[in-house]
Amino acid sequence: MNEIIKNKIICGESLEELKSMPSGSVDLVITSPPYFQQRNYGNGSLGIGNEVTENEYLDNVLAIFMQCVRVTKSTGAIVFNLGDKYIDGGLSLLPFKFAIRALERKKVFLINQITWSKLNPTPRQDKRKLIQATEPFFIFVKSKKYHFDLENYLKHLDDFNKKKRSTSNKVGQKYFELIDNAELTEKEKDHAKRDLNEAIQKVHSGTIVSFRMKIRGIHKLAYGGQDGGRNNQIRNNGFSIINILGNKLKKDVIESPVEITKNNRHPAVYPIYIVQELIKLLSKEGDTVLDPFCGSGTTCLAAKNLHRDYIGIEINPDYVELTNERLRKTDYAQELFV
Ligand SMILES: C[S@@+](CC[C@H](N)C(=O)[O-])C[C@H]1O[C@@H](n2cnc3c(N)ncnc32)[C@H](O)[C@@H]1O
Repeated sequence: MNEIIKNKIICGESLEELKSMPSGSVDLVITSPPYFQQRNYGNGSLGIGNEVTENEYLDNVLAIFMQCVRVTKSTGAIVFNLGDKYIDGGLSLLPFKFAIRALERKKVFLINQITWSKLNPTPRQDKRKLIQATEPFFIFVKSKKYHFDLENYLKHLDDFNKKKRSTSNKVGQKYFELIDNAELTEKEKDHAKRDLNEAIQKVHSGTIVSFRMKIRGIHKLAYGGQDGGRNNQIRNNGFSIINILGNKLKKDVIESPVEITKNNRHPAVYPIYIVQELIKLLSKEGDTVLDPFCGSGTTCLAAKNLHRDYIGIEINPDYVELTNERLRKTDYAQELFV
């Protein structure tokens, strides 16, 4: 086995190149194999995607996937993005056929299937089908020890929410009057006002975005009235305060436009925005990120920008050159918001 050379785009056939890489040598794989019979990348019979049957295609993608699993560390993840295809007027569900086969090999768990919701999907002529505007990103891991940095995933949205917090002097003031009018003991009222003041301070200092207060006899108990912790607090102490941290719920859906970068001569570029969020979620600085179908180098570029090492494999020398060009003139902000 060869030593791995990092921060390089290898011009070669993915399966062969992967076979020469040591096991457990990368932290994260993110890739998008060519879709079945969709585009000609100019690679002849060696290129994936030109197979005659679906089964041949799935076998070829799966062989590469299994090599990716082998070269990934036990703490790592393998992310595959595939697109579907209409065959004889019906959806083939190819991405899911691939995922089922991958799971049947029993070497990986599927921890999430993230749905990419396209903000600008390609319009279709067919008036008897809706426009396809989603694609899956399957996140496979090798063990339960996988690296997962939820806080850093979509962190800019959390930061944005936190900036929207109220700085008005009126925050929480309405509750003082409600406490005074509530049928609470004097001791309960004192405690309620003390905790209310603390919550107001937390909003002013930015620890929380806002809060809600529930007071016995004034606000309803939570639905069902069961002995949940919050209902107990209201019953026993006379009040309860719910802190609102302002963090966005981290769901398995990510919205992003299809890349329509004018200057990119590759026909199937995936969004650097999604890739960078996955890199932040599934790796840390200094880790190694591999893309065995490197194309125009989106994964490698995102990895470089986020201070990870990268390895790209691409069969077409023109795209290797394109990737190297993009890597040379990395401009993070520009690449993200074109
Ligand atoms: C869907 S594109 C990847 C695009 C990439 N995600 C981007 O953002 O630019 C798939 C790429 O795989 C390459 N490819 C096809 N078969 C290959 C093989 N057997 N080994 C290596 N690369 C291959 C194609 O030339 C194409 O550039």
